[in-house]
Formats: sequence, structure tokens, C-alpha cells
Amino acid sequence: MKKDILIKTARFIISNVDVKKCPSAVYPEYAFVGRSNVGKSSLINMLTNNKSLAKISSKPGKTKLINHFLINNNWYLVDLPGYGYAKISKKERTLIGKIIKQYIEKRENLTCLFLLIDSRLKPQQNDMEFIEWLGINKVPIALVFTKTDKLSKYQLDSNITNFKNELLKQWEKLPQYFLTSAKTKKGKDEILNYIWEINKNM
Ligand code: GTP
Ligand code: MG
Repeated sequence: MKKDILIKTARFIISNVDVKKCPSAVYPEYAFVGRSNVGKSSLINMLTNNKSLAKISSKPGKTKLINHFLINNNWYLVDLPGYGYAKISKKERTLIGKIIKQYIEKRENLTCLFLLIDSRLKPQQNDMEFIEWLGINKVPIALVFTKTDKLSKYQLDSNITNFKNELLKQWEKLPQYFLTSAKTKKGKDEILNYIWEINKNM
């Protein structure tokens, strides 16, 4: 790993539901989005070597706010609420959808949105619809396939190939993607390198 991509400091800044109340947009920002329970908060903790920076739960629907973390005093990581959790009210689901959408549309320093996908599942309709919306809105994205420790290599390869084929039905070119595990730290250096390369050229 390049020395410069080491995370020296990771500091929680603020949580809120209103994009206007996010910290001033002076640094490049990388946000993590995806279905509830996919592992967004765990990934943030894994990347920052901190077990308790972002709040994690085995129950879906843990993160309900937009959470900003300042890394090395010059870029942000953002933990977003998860979508698609069936066991909350329709009103709450609509609200979460609105928070995510407004954040993506209004946050001018959003540099890359990491969309997390559970590597164990076949392509889910709400993920595919969301990817389509992101494409239409020209949001820069990268895909992160999570929980790869829970699959055999064969199953993982087969699921990723399947997902890519599904994506190629709507995209000409596949976005950048990463295979990760918050448990084994797989994908950590790759994601940090990717962010580091973008930050370097800003
Ligand atoms: P919400 O905040 O509810 O949207 O969920 P989230 O996407 O932030 O998921 P969270 O990080 O809270 O993780 C959900 C559950 O999955 C927890 O029990 C984690 O321990 C588990 N988990 C997350 N990532 C991994 C992983 O890579 N491997 C394994 N085995 N478990 C994981
Ligand atoms: Mg969370």
C-alpha cells in the first residue's frame, strides 16, 4: 500500500437528514449507499481501521441519517441510510429514499458514490432501478460487492458474472467495481488506492 493512502485520522463530524446542513463542501467526498444491512457502516469502519466509528447492527435500518466523517483532514467519507428495508412503514421508506436522492442531487463535492451490493444475492430489482437512475443522472459511481467471505470462490465468481451480465443490459461500459469483506479486509487497499488516485488529481 502506498504510504500516502494510510488513514491517519478519521473523525466524526455531523449527522443529519438535511443536505443543506452537511459540512461545507470544501473537500472531495465519497459516499456509501445501498440496501439496508448490505454493510455500508462496516465498510467505513474497515477502511478507517476503527471498529466503532460508524454504527453497525445485525438488524437492518441502523443508519437513519447522513453521517460525515473527515479523513486525514482533507476528504470526507459519508455513511448513508440503507434503502429497501421491508419492515419499516411506507412513509419511512419514502423519507429515506428522499434523503438519499436529495443528498446525491445536491451535494456538489460528491466525487464518487460507492454503491454496495450484497455479493450473495442475485441482482435485486431496487438495486437495478437505482443504478439506472444514477446512470441517467450521470452520478459517478463505483460498485462494491460486500460480504464476499460468506461465499466460495466459485459462487462469488458466478454471482459477479451474473451481475455484470445484468448490468450490460443497460450500460455500455461496466463501472469500476470492488470485491470486499469487512471481516477479512479484502478490498481495503484497492478502495483506498482508488480514492487516493482521484484525490491526487483534484
Ligand atoms: P443499515 O445502516 O441498516 O443500512 O446497514 P449497513 O449497510 O450499514 O450494514 P452494517 O454495516 O450495519 O452491517 C449489517 C450486518 O452485516 C452486521 O451484522 C455486520 O456485521 C454484517 N456485515 C457487514 N459486512 C460484512 C462482511 O463483509 N462480512 C460479514 N460476514 N458480515 C458483514
Ligand atoms: Mg449503516
